[in-house]
Amino acid sequence: MKHTTFALASLLALASTALAQYTNQSAPFYLVLLSKDGKYNGTALEACHEGAGIEGLCTGGLLNTTAGYSTFQFNTSSNEFVQNATLGATGYLTYELRGGNFNESESMGLFYNPASNVALPLFEPSDENATPVAFDSEGRMNIQSYLDDTVTPPTDVKVTAYYRWYVCESNYEGYTYETLNWVMGKHKPENPSCCQVNVVRQFA
Ligand SMILES: *[C@@H]1O[C@H](CO)[C@@H](O)[C@H](O)[C@H]1NC(C)=O
Ligand SMILES: *[C@@H]1O[C@H](CO)[C@@H](O)[C@H](O)[C@H]1NC(C)=O
Ligand SMILES: *[C@@H]1O[C@H](CO)[C@@H](O)[C@H](O)[C@H]1NC(C)=O
Ligand SMILES: *[C@@H]1O[C@H](CO)[C@@H](O)[C@H](O)[C@H]1NC(C)=O
Ligand SMILES: *[C@@H]1O[C@H](CO)[C@@H](O)[C@H](O)[C@H]1NC(C)=O
Ligand SMILES: *[C@@H]1O[C@H](CO)[C@@H](O)[C@H](O)[C@H]1NC(C)=O
Repeated sequence: MKHTTFALASLLALASTALAQYTNQSAPFYLVLLSKDGKYNGTALEACHEGAGIEGLCTGGLLNTTAGYSTFQFNTSSNEFVQNATLGATGYLTYELRGGNFNESESMGLFYNPASNVALPLFEPSDENATPVAFDSEGRMNIQSYLDDTVTPPTDVKVTAYYRWYVCESNYEGYTYETLNWVMGKHKPENPSCCQVNVVRQFA
C-alpha cells in the first residue's frame, strides 16, 4: 500500500512537472560556490559561451561589490505542490541571454554523456531538456528525486534532495573550461579534476 502511495505521488509529481508552466520568476541572484577548497570558496559562477545560444557555468572570481557577475533567476510554477518546503520548490534555473536585438530566457538542463557519471549544466533556448532544480531553506541548489536505486528492489522514497555539484575541467564540443558539473549517483566523479562544491544563491 505504502509503495503504491509513493509511486502515485512520484507519478503525479512527474506529471505536474511535465505540465507545469514555470513562469513565476524570482528576482535576479548570483550563484556562489561554497567549498572546502579556498580557491573556490566564495567565488561566483559566470555564464560562458559553449556554442550558439548555449552557455555553461564557468568559475569566476570572488563575489564582491566591485565585480559584475552574471545573474540568474528561478522560474517556478504557481500551482506546484511543494513536497518539502525545507528542500524547496522545484523549477527552472534561468539565464537571460542578451543578443544584439533580442533577449532570450534560457533554462538549465543537464547534458549527459552516457559513458560518464559527470553531467554538464547548460543553458539552452528550449525548455525541452530543462532539469528541474530547487533551492533549500539555506539557498543551496539541489536536485530532488523520489527513487532510491541503491537498494534492491529500487524503491520509491520520500522526496530527497541531492547536492552533487562539482567544479571540473569540462569539454563540450571542444570548449574546454572549468565549469560547474553534476555527478550522477553517489560515487565519486570519474573526471579526476573534479572538486566538490555547494552552490548557493545570493540575491543581487
Ligand atoms: C521565466 O519566466 C519569465 C516570466 O514569466 C518568462 O518570461 C521566461 O520566458 C521564463 N523562462 C523560461 C526559460 O521558461
Ligand atoms: C567558505 O566561505 C564561507 C562564507 O564566506 C565561510 O563561512 C567558510 O568558513 C569558508 N569555508 C572554508 C572551508 O574556508
Ligand atoms: C573583486 O573581485 C575581483 C575578481 O575576483 C577582483 O579582481 C577585485 O580585486 C575584487 N575587489 C575587491 C575590492 O576585493
Ligand atoms: C511567485 O514568485 C514570487 C517571487 O519569488 C513569490 O513572492 C510569490 O509567492 C510566487 N507566487 C506563487 C503563486 O508561487
Ligand atoms: C523535509 O526534508 C528534510 C530533510 O530530508 C527532513 O528532515 C524533513 O523531515 C522533511 N519534511 C517533511 C515535511 O517531510
Ligand atoms: C534586453 O534587456 C536589457 C536589460 O533589461 C534591455 O536594456 C534591452 O533593451 C533588452 N533588449 C531587447 C532587444 O529587448
